Amino acid sequence: MLGHPLGEGLWLRLLERHHAESLFALTDRNRDHLRPWLPWVDRVRDVVDSLAFIEEGLMRFARGSGYELGIWREGALIGVIGVHGIDRANASTSIGYWLDAGHQGRGIMTRAVTAVLDDLFLDRGLHRVEIRVAPENHRSRAIPERLGFRMEGVLREAERHSDRWGDLVVYAILDREWKAARRAIR
Ligand SMILES: CC(C)(COP(=O)(O)OP(=O)(O)OC[C@H]1O[C@@H](n2cnc3c(N)ncnc32)[C@H](O)[C@@H]1OP(=O)(O)O)[C@@H](O)C(=O)NCCC(=O)NCCS
Repeated sequence: MLGHPLGEGLWLRLLERHHAESLFALTDRNRDHLRPWLPWVDRVRDVVDSLAFIEEGLMRFARGSGYELGIWREGALIGVIGVHGIDRANASTSIGYWLDAGHQGRGIMTRAVTAVLDDLFLDRGLHRVEIRVAPENHRSRAIPERLGFRMEGVLREAERHSDRWGDLVVYAILDREWKAARRAIR
């Protein structure tokens, strides 16, 4: 996962400290696009906030309890996909993602999530992976639905936004389901 090709000039690469400027610039350009779904966006006010996020991801990576990857296209950072924290006892985790507004609609995040699920299930031997999504976030909900996740329920008012509480739909996929889905794709 230090550098993983997704095809067509796209790469996943661990976010490192020297990427902080690029990450902050990407976040800053995409505030209006991200704000409805990602309440942390307005807490990122300066490059040091992006640096702190990267450092926290690197600590998770060093501990083997997750990571934050940049999605790169021809050398430019265009998005982020992260593994939030691996629960070793239960071999489970959750993932989150976002993409530059101008790069949506080309299947890029579906490809990135596929690569991360391969890493989590095939390389790290996890049992269960969750994705939590706002009910109204149809673009994002389409990703777990396309990849064979099952919807398990709704967490009521589980996410705090500046002006409201938001529900979250929980999707999950198990290792045997992912392996069967991969065999079906091949
Ligand atoms: C949610 C988000 C990551 C989706 O990114 P994306 O790359 O556009 O998503 P996908 O990979 O699913 O792309 C699917 C689209 O590409 C098209 N596509 C083109 N080639 C494709 C391929 N090979 N495989 C899959 N889809 C493909 C699909 O038809 C679909 O288009 P549509 O949305 O018009 O129906 C992005 O919209 C985003 O960052 N949103 C804001 C932040 C956010 O909501 N994050 C998630 C919080 S839970």
